[in-house]
Amino acid sequence: MKKLFIKTYGCQMNVYDSARMADVLAPAGFEMTAAPEAADLVILNTCHIREKAAEKVYSELGRLRAIKAAAAGRGRTMLIGVGGCVAQAEGEEMQHRAPFVDIVFGPQNYQDLAQMVEDAARGTAVLKTEFPARPKFDSLPERRRQGQTAAFISVQEGCDKFCTFCVVPYTRGAEYSRPAADIIAEARAVVAGGVSEITLLGQNVNAYHGAAPSRTAPGSALGQREWGLGRLIRDLAGIDGLARIRYTTSHPSDMDDDLIAAHGEVEALMPHLHLPVQSGSDRVLAAMNRRYTVDQYTSVAERLRAARPDIALSSDFIVGFPGESDSDFEATLDLARRLGYAQAYSFKYSARPGTPAAERPDQVPEDVKSARLTRLQTELKSQARTFNEACVGRVMDVLFDRPGRYRGQMAGRSPYLQAVHVTPGDGEAQALRGRILPVRITEGHANSLAGTLAERAPLGAGP
Ligand code: 5AD
Ligand code: SF4
Repeated sequence: MKKLFIKTYGCQMNVYDSARMADVLAPAGFEMTAAPEAADLVILNTCHIREKAAEKVYSELGRLRAIKAAAAGRGRTMLIGVGGCVAQAEGEEMQHRAPFVDIVFGPQNYQDLAQMVEDAARGTAVLKTEFPARPKFDSLPERRRQGQTAAFISVQEGCDKFCTFCVVPYTRGAEYSRPAADIIAEARAVVAGGVSEITLLGQNVNAYHGAAPSRTAPGSALGQREWGLGRLIRDLAGIDGLARIRYTTSHPSDMDDDLIAAHGEVEALMPHLHLPVQSGSDRVLAAMNRRYTVDQYTSVAERLRAARPDIALSSDFIVGFPGESDSDFEATLDLARRLGYAQAYSFKYSARPGTPAAERPDQVPEDVKSARLTRLQTELKSQARTFNEACVGRVMDVLFDRPGRYRGQMAGRSPYLQAVHVTPGDGEAQALRGRILPVRITEGHANSLAGTLAERAPLGAGP
């Protein structure tokens, strides 16, 4: 067997893509290794969303170049591939700057990876960054079963929203939704393999509008041509053994009535939603081309809470968008305080070459961005801690999926996506893996909870 090492940067979409790259390369004789030194093929799956993404990739490539040279000295060939959004954005430039890279390929091209590796092995430098007409999902091999307890399933890719700060529409291309039947088949396969939680993934996941399965095709009783995300979730919830469904990342203006209602009606749909707001100022939201106002966002949050009163919201914020004034920023702080988030990420605006906001003359000075970020993060951290502390004393179902940091410890996720640790001791900890069990929460920290296994019978079904 040849050895494959993949380093993944960025979002869950990339984590998913990396797993699928491994699936694509398995029939070509590649198995994963944890050590780049041992690899015949090293792939960097890159992210371009913020900060000096390209620079980070080039410095990692510098390290790989030395490993490649050392391998060559021992008479072994190591191929280097760079995929993902930095590869898409850099393209030919990367071949010039790092000629020892054998394969440069964009996020829409990994279904052809085996062929690219073959070409590279024959000494041809490979560059593939086009957006093919054929959706990449269609030609992927059967997903391998890996004894996981939770799985990502990509349902939608790309984005047509063109927020003025964001590279995604340029690196990931136009929006595409997978046919519902394919997603249902993939979900059934992973659940049959032992998975009890799936997370539906997409850059703009709630814009999902995939072809309906043929049983609801025109002429049948239901007659819907396309399904929205709410409809898809209702169908997936019928899969035996699937206890939990999540989806990410959503755009506030695509939260339609059916999806909101699903939060109140579908038991398997977990009471947590990542709903990035980005800013609390209407002026900045308009300049960002976010397509909603603060009032509209607030109303979505209120309707979600009406449908599912215990729903936990998380968010993304950008501070220091070009032209953001002190009062715009105060409005953001104010919105965060009013909404109350269970968890949130916040970032300093980072100018992405090629995006409209990067061209604006009114960029906010770095020190102002830093000061705003510190204030916002202080608020958001305290909200997360408050939320976690309020869980102490409650009994929550936890899906255990990984060993904890200490001996005898197991970790999992609460319905609200919090990390939860229990420490039942060496023997018992392992037996928890893959099960959903009630846990009495005893401690709430900034980023996690601790608890003990509770007595009452489990609510959710384990595999
Ligand atoms: N600068 C800072 N943050 C950004 N994000 C996306 N693009 C930028 C940028 N240019 C953030 C947004 C998004 C998250 C994934 O990354 O908050 O929701
Ligand atoms: Fe980027 Fe906006 Fe699309 Fe999200 S909705 S991927 S922030 S352009």
